[in-house]
Amino acid sequence: MVVYNPFHREIADNPYPIYRQLRDTAPVYYNEELDFYALSRFEDVLAGHLDPQTYSSAHGVTIEGFERANPFLIVKDLPEHFWHRKVVGRVFTPGRVADLEPFVRQKAAELLDPFVGAGGFDVVEQFSIRLPLEVISELLGIPESVRHDVHVLSDRIGARDESASTPEDAYAAVGELHGLLAGLVRERRTNPGDDVISLMMRSEVQADEDGTMRHMGDDELAFRFIELAFAGHETVAKLVANGVVALFWYPDQRAELVADRTLLPNAVEEMLRWDPPSQYQGRWTTRDVEIHGTTIPADRRVVLVTGSATHDERQFADPELFDIHRPIERHVSLGFGIHLCLGAALARLETRVAFDELLRRFPEYEVAPSGVQRTYGSNVRGLSALPIVTG
Ligand code: HEM
Repeated sequence: MVVYNPFHREIADNPYPIYRQLRDTAPVYYNEELDFYALSRFEDVLAGHLDPQTYSSAHGVTIEGFERANPFLIVKDLPEHFWHRKVVGRVFTPGRVADLEPFVRQKAAELLDPFVGAGGFDVVEQFSIRLPLEVISELLGIPESVRHDVHVLSDRIGARDESASTPEDAYAAVGELHGLLAGLVRERRTNPGDDVISLMMRSEVQADEDGTMRHMGDDELAFRFIELAFAGHETVAKLVANGVVALFWYPDQRAELVADRTLLPNAVEEMLRWDPPSQYQGRWTTRDVEIHGTTIPADRRVVLVTGSATHDERQFADPELFDIHRPIERHVSLGFGIHLCLGAALARLETRVAFDELLRRFPEYEVAPSGVQRTYGSNVRGLSALPIVTG
C-alpha cells in the first residue's frame, strides 16, 4: 500500500514515483499517522484551488499548519482575504513588475560577472538566493545590513526534520524574524518611504462586514513583512537552481535557449511544472466532500499535491520529460484562484532574467554532483548547494 509522508527523506529526495502511485491507486489518500488527506490528480487539485469556501486556508497551508496562528495573507479566507490582497495586489501587477526588469538585470549581472573566467561557483549560495533576496529587499525596504539575517531566519522557518510535527526551531525563527522586522516597521512609522510596507501602512482594509475600515497595526504589518520577505526569495531561489539542474540534464535544450532567448518564458513555465518549488498547498474542509467515491469529512486537513498535479499524465503528456517546447495551457505551481501567488509576475521575471544572464555568460556548465545538497522543508522543495563548473 502506498505511503505518502512528505517529511520522509526518501520521498523528499524524489517524490515523483510516490505521486504516480497516489494518482493511480489512491487519488483521495488518507495518512493516518499525520491525519491528513491528499488530492494528487490535476483536476482535483485545480478544483480545490477554485473552491476556497470548501477548502479553507485559515487552518494553515502546511500539514503542521503552525502558520495559522499568524495574520499572514495566505491563511485568510474570504471576505477578509479580498481586502488584504487588494492592498498589495496593485504593487505586484505584471505591468508594475515589468518596470523592475532593468534593476533585476543589473543585479544579476553584478552577481555573475565576478565568476566569468573563475572556473565555477555555487549557483545557490552566490546567485539564486541573492538575486531574489536583493530584489524583494529593495521592494520592502530591508537594509543591506540585515538581508543575510533575513535569509538565514527564513531558511530556519522553512526547515523540517523527519518528525515535523513539532517544528520548534521554525517557531523560534518566526519570533526572531518578527523582532527584526517589527523594528523596521516602527522606523517606517516615523519615516515612511515608497516601499511596500509603507504602502500597507497607509492603506486601509475592511474591518468588518458593515464596511468599517481600519489601518493595520505594527504587529500585523510585521507578520506580513515576514511573509513577503520569506515567499519573495526562498521559492525563486529553488526554482532557478532546479532549472539549472534541468538544463544540465537536457543540454540540447540548453543550447536552444542559448541560441534563442525568446524560448525562455515557456522554459520558465516548464521549470515550474517539472519540479515545482512549492510541492503542496494545505487546506481544511468546511463540509463533507465526496471525491472518487470517498468522503472526506468536514474539519479535516487536505493537501493539494501540486508536485503530483503537474506530473499527472491525464493532463501532461510524458510528464517526467523536461521539454521547453511543451504547450502548457495552465499549471498549478503558482497556485490558482484567490490565493494565486501574489509574486507570480515577479517570480517569472526574475527567473527569465536569471537564465538570460546566466546562459549569456556560461552557455556551457557542468554540475559537480558531489557538492549538491538538498534542503528539507514541509512543502518547499529545492537545493541548498549547487556547485557548477563553467570551464
Ligand atoms: C518561483 C517562485 C514562487 C513560487 C513557486 C510560489 C508559489 C506560490 C504558491 C503555490 C502560492 C499559493 C499558496 C496557496 O494556495 O496556499 C503562493 C502564494 C503566495 N506567494 Fe508565491 N511563489 C513564488 C514567488 C513569490 C514571490 C516572489 C512572492 C513575493 C511577492 C510571493 C508571495 C506570495 C504570497 C504573499 C502568497 C499568498 C497569496 C494569497 O494568499 O493571496 N511568491 N505562491
